[in-house]
Amino acid sequence: MSELALKIVGVSKVYQLGKRNVNALANLNLDVKKGEFAAIMGPSGSGKTTLLNVIGCIDKPTSGKVLIDDIDTAGLPESELYKIRRNKIGFVFQNFNLLPYLNARENVELPMEMTTKSKNERTARANGLLATVGLAGREEHRPQRLSQGEQQRVAIARALANDPAIILADEPTGNLDMKNKQDIVKLLANLNLKQGTTIILVTHDGQVAAHTERILFLNDGKITKEKEGMHLAKKNICPYCKAKLQPADEKCPNCGKTVRFRKKAQVRLFP
Ligand SMILES: Nc1ncnc2c1ncn2[C@@H]1O[C@H](COP(=O)(O)OP(=O)(O)OP(=O)(O)O)[C@@H](O)[C@H]1O
Ligand SMILES: [Mg+2]
Repeated sequence: MSELALKIVGVSKVYQLGKRNVNALANLNLDVKKGEFAAIMGPSGSGKTTLLNVIGCIDKPTSGKVLIDDIDTAGLPESELYKIRRNKIGFVFQNFNLLPYLNARENVELPMEMTTKSKNERTARANGLLATVGLAGREEHRPQRLSQGEQQRVAIARALANDPAIILADEPTGNLDMKNKQDIVKLLANLNLKQGTTIILVTHDGQVAAHTERILFLNDGKITKEKEGMHLAKKNICPYCKAKLQPADEKCPNCGKTVRFRKKAQVRLFP
């Protein structure tokens, strides 16, 4: 099994708009390792949502390959793509996409409906996930009786329902105030640290992106630049060669460089 959660090879996406072709993704290549927490930034129209949709098997590329967990999604029938979406990927949409006539718990239970879990198991898991995102006591609330930040947390709990290996979040903090924004970023960062969930989040917000470990810049459907983010300092990873470190390591066992300072590295959220 490879260490990659996601591999994108030469992916292009061309939309036809009347007689005009729109190249939303242009021969894009990207590897994302299991357990990485990455941000995608870029101007409006640069292809960020298209990229998430292609990764999430919601949209098919015009050409190129998308491998999720070593599975080449290109030739798969819709029934198999559905299984990948349901079992491996959790989507968090910018506008939450909660069903208004279901309460918080029912919204979180929904993705588990086509699984082998019994009704009792689904309910227990939904309650547990809502508690994890700080919404114990709000289980019976319908979306309209929750704040924007709370609705986004329900959307995150729903994305976690089937314990996905990858979370794709399209501007998850876009509509939130500072406090809610911090809470969502902390929640995702903890999820990544504690459960090793691979997270790819799209954001226009430089502060949010800075709190991931890898910031990718998209322009005209291509990744043009990449930067390290502060989250890396929270992980036991060599900042030079990215090898795994043990807490007591003073030198990296792989590249031999001194890594003691990482213990002092403090990541403050929104200083
Ligand atoms: N269904 C579609 N049909 C035609 N063109 C589309 C379609 N979806 C997206 N596009 C075009 O593809 C390009 C990339 O769109 P995309 O939504 O991925 O951008 P984005 O980076 O997410 O922008 P934003 O920051 O505004 O959300 C844009 O030029 C857009 O107009
Ligand atoms: Mg978008």
